[in-house]
Order: sequence, then C-alpha cells, then structure tokens
Amino acid sequence: MTTNMIALVTGANKGIGFATAAQLGARGMTVLVGARDAARGRAAEAALRDGGADARFVPLDVTDAGSVATAAKLVEEEYGHLDVLVNNAGIVLGDGERALPSETTVATLRRVFETNVFGVVAVTNALLPLLRRAPAARIVNVSSEVGSIATISDPDSFIWSLTSVPYPSSKAALNMVTAMYAKELRDTPIKVNAANPGYCATDLNGRSGFRSPAQGAEVSVHLATLPPDGPTGTLWGHLADGGGGYGVLPW
Ligand SMILES: NC(=O)c1ccc[n+]([C@@H]2O[C@H](COP(=O)([O-])OP(=O)(O)OC[C@H]3O[C@@H](n4cnc5c(N)ncnc54)[C@H](OP(=O)(O)O)[C@@H]3O)[C@@H](O)[C@H]2O)c1
Repeated sequence: MTTNMIALVTGANKGIGFATAAQLGARGMTVLVGARDAARGRAAEAALRDGGADARFVPLDVTDAGSVATAAKLVEEEYGHLDVLVNNAGIVLGDGERALPSETTVATLRRVFETNVFGVVAVTNALLPLLRRAPAARIVNVSSEVGSIATISDPDSFIWSLTSVPYPSSKAALNMVTAMYAKELRDTPIKVNAANPGYCATDLNGRSGFRSPAQGAEVSVHLATLPPDGPTGTLWGHLADGGGGYGVLPW
C-alpha cells in the first residue's frame, strides 16, 4: 500500500468506524475522522495519532447538508482527491415494546433513513468528484446482514426472529444504493461494495455483539483496499453460518 492515500470514515469517533480509521491509518493512509461532535471527533483524532496514525478530525454530520458540503470542500482544498470513502455512520431506532412493523412510526423510519440511507447518498455525491480524481477509489457502505431480505426472510436464519422495520429496511435500501452506484461506476476504476461487519460489541447494540469492533472493521478495510480485479456491487463480510468465515452474502 502506498502512502499519500486519503481515506474518510464517517462516524469514526467510536465503534467500528474508529477501528476502521485505526486500521487504515496503520496501513499508511491519512485518515480523515468524520464525526458530528467536535469533542468526540478531536478525542478520536488524538487517540488515533497516539496509535501512530496520520489522523485528522473532520466535522461531519451526514444528515446536515451544510456539514457535508463543508467537509467535501475541506477535503478538496487540503487534499485535492479522496482514495477511500467508508460510509460507516449509522443508527438504530425502534418503536414499541416488541418493535413490530405495526408499531412502527414514520417519524422513526424517517430518522433512521436520514442517517443510514440519505446520509450515504449525500456524502457519496459530495465526494464523488474527488473519488474520481483518485487512481482507483474504493467506496464502502457499512451495511448489515439484517439488510439481506433473503436472510431475514429465511426461517432457518439466526435473524429470523427480528421484527423491527426501520434499521433492517434502511440497510436493505443501502444495499440497493450500493448496487446502483456500482452499476453507474462499472466502467471506472472505482469499486463500490456493502460491508457486513457481523454482530460486533458496540454502543449500537449495548455491546451485546460477539465480535469485536476491530473484527468488524476488518471487513470495511478489506473492501477499502480491494485490488484492481476485486469485486464491485456486492454485500461482503462476515458469514454467520457457523464457520466464522467471510464471503458474499445474498441481497
Ligand atoms: N455493531 C454491529 O453489530 C453492527 C452490525 C452490522 C452493521 N453495523 C453498522 O456498523 C456501522 C457502525 O456502527 P457501530 O456498531 O460502530 O455503532 P456505534 O458505536 O454506535 O457508532 C456509530 C457511529 O456513527 C456516528 N453517527 C451516528 N449518526 C451520525 C450522523 N448523523 N453523522 C455522523 N456520524 C453519525 C456515531 O456518532 P456519535 O458518537 O456522535 O453518536 C458513531 O460514531 C453502522 O452503520 C452500523 O449500522 C454494526
């Protein structure tokens, strides 16, 4: 891996995003630490620098058009291009005690989609001109196996019991977003893939996951550093079928 590569990770102040920034930094990339809260972003920048990474906090709330535009302007003025974009920021919300579809409010659905879907499109479109300037940019959309309609509809699947609409449907939409960007960019060196980190212990799930944030980050880093003959337009990552391996998941 050459140096002078620039990577931006959204929601990089903690969890899988922070671990992704650390791992990309360890590979010699300059990592731009996207965070919506300045104190948390600066703390992450300091921790990553202490770990030896060339890290820089970039204020970025993916739901705020002004913030997205300002971040893109900063990247353009300071670096002139972008090699890696990891759309990692994400939230989980649900309604009702059992989080049934019939209990779901449109307000909650809208909030989750604002971050997990609309934010990804906004950030990607703002940065695409800079990604096109890189020799072979990589876009990683951090999705989930719960966005796989095939998996969540399978009675034998370990996620069959999930009932909530907002988060799974946002990740299903993100999978489609990924497929469509990959299709638009298929004749360019840019690769666009969705990542399944697997169930990782982070604040998103009350730290109940059985994988570490670092293990989840390995999936994003793999897709962020794909060789020229690597895939595009896939959902790739942790396979929950017992073996603990990695591979392509069904949409
Ligand atoms: N953990 C899992 O098991 C798992 C499994 C599959 C997929 N994922 C996905 O992995 C990604 C990272 O999640 P995580 O588990 O690491 O959760 P996390 O620890 O809660 O981290 C989420 C990150 O997203 C940021 N964020 C939320 N809304 C934002 C916004 N509007 N603008 C910018 N940043 C925002 C958070 O910032 P604040 O600190 O300011 O809130 C935080 O940095 C998410 O896309 C999630 O859906 C996680």
